[in-house]
Amino acid sequence: MSATVNVSVVYYSATGTVAEIAREVAEAAEKTGAEVRLRKVSELAQPSAIASNPAWSAHASATADVHCATVEDLLWADAVIMGSPTRFGNVSAQLKSFLDSLGDAWREGLLADKVYSAFTATSSLHGGQESTLLALTTSFHHFGGIVVAPGYTRPEKFADGNPYGTAHHTRGGTQPVDDTTRNAARVQAERVVRFARAIKAG
Ligand SMILES: Cc1cc2nc3c(=O)[nH]c(=O)nc-3n(C[C@H](O)[C@H](O)[C@H](O)COP(=O)(O)O)c2cc1C
Repeated sequence: MSATVNVSVVYYSATGTVAEIAREVAEAAEKTGAEVRLRKVSELAQPSAIASNPAWSAHASATADVHCATVEDLLWADAVIMGSPTRFGNVSAQLKSFLDSLGDAWREGLLADKVYSAFTATSSLHGGQESTLLALTTSFHHFGGIVVAPGYTRPEKFADGNPYGTAHHTRGGTQPVDDTTRNAARVQAERVVRFARAIKAG
């Protein structure tokens, strides 16, 4: 019998794109039989900044009941899939702040030997997608994680074209998450669970 795999999907999203990908990743992982926790990270922005952007404000209200990630969500997981919108080609401060809270767990070696993978979204075409994914991956290497990238391992990956992870181009906020991105998210989740299951089974 194959081992049950615990997957934590941890993300930050201001206007909902990355959250939508996170839900797709979580659903796809669940369909493979994994136990899944879907977690946002804590907001750092001032309420006035959120209120100044209707999409940000609406998303914050709509996801108020999503649990915030804790270190325990990572300790519990065999696989961690993290997502952040790009910020000048880099990880958002909110997700970075969560990463920065993991020092004690890292020091004790508790983040090692898990499978990690990353996803992102950008406003413009390319827009820093790969640099954001690689920046997240940098932390995973420091954890002693086993980074599982989707590569071009399935035909769907030639449609979205990003071997580093799922990445959605919002066209300035006008293009919601579409089938191409959903397929990429599903491929990534299935691949992560497959490797996590094999590693857990020894
Ligand atoms: C401070 C800041 C910097 C950003 N930098 C970039 C960028 O370098 N390239 C880009 O395409 N989009 C950039 N964006 C747009 C966001 O990445 C985009 O709104 C996000 O991917 C949407 O995801 P979300 O709906 O989950 O928040 C930036 C947004 C902000 C607020």
